[in-house]
Amino acid sequence: MSVRRVVLIGFMGAGKTAVGRSLARRLNWDFVDVDDLVEERTGRSIAEIFRLEGEAAFRLKEAEAATDALLRAGVVVAMGGGWAAEAGRLEDLPEDTLSIWLRVSPEEAVRRTKRDGATRPLLQAPDPLGRAAELLSSRSAFYDRADVGVDTEGRSVDDVTTRILEILHEYEFEIGAE
Ligand code: S3P
Repeated sequence: MSVRRVVLIGFMGAGKTAVGRSLARRLNWDFVDVDDLVEERTGRSIAEIFRLEGEAAFRLKEAEAATDALLRAGVVVAMGGGWAAEAGRLEDLPEDTLSIWLRVSPEEAVRRTKRDGATRPLLQAPDPLGRAAELLSSRSAFYDRADVGVDTEGRSVDDVTTRILEILHEYEFEIGAE
């Protein structure tokens, strides 16, 4: 399989943005974070979009931004945590795309999202851990459709990046030209 695009999916706090940026650097590819793209295009933060327009409106903007990001080649795309949790999303990826599920436990997801300070509207609940556990269990079957899964628990961004590069070699993926 020739790979011209890597798509990172998984729950909030899985490290999609940090690993995506690091992987893109190591591959000498571009990096697109779909949440950032939505914020750039709308001039609003994700939290503002949820608050002012609602989740359904956010999902539409997210879907559009993701579709545009996937037109590119020589790119690592970090999706938002909810993007893959819809039927057909991974199945409809362009052919030369490797999808990777970055796995994280709900406990670690809550710890990391608190630490990195960005507001995740879906975790603004009286019991963030309960909410994260519930959401993750409803999404895992979708995430599991990715081509490969990589554990991130107790691993640094560098380690996870190295593991992904190893996988690319193990599977003899050919890194396609941009
Ligand atoms: C969401 C995840 C967030 C962001 C939005 C909704 C989700 O992205 O898209 O808050 O539904 O899991 P990250 O996974 O990058 O935090």
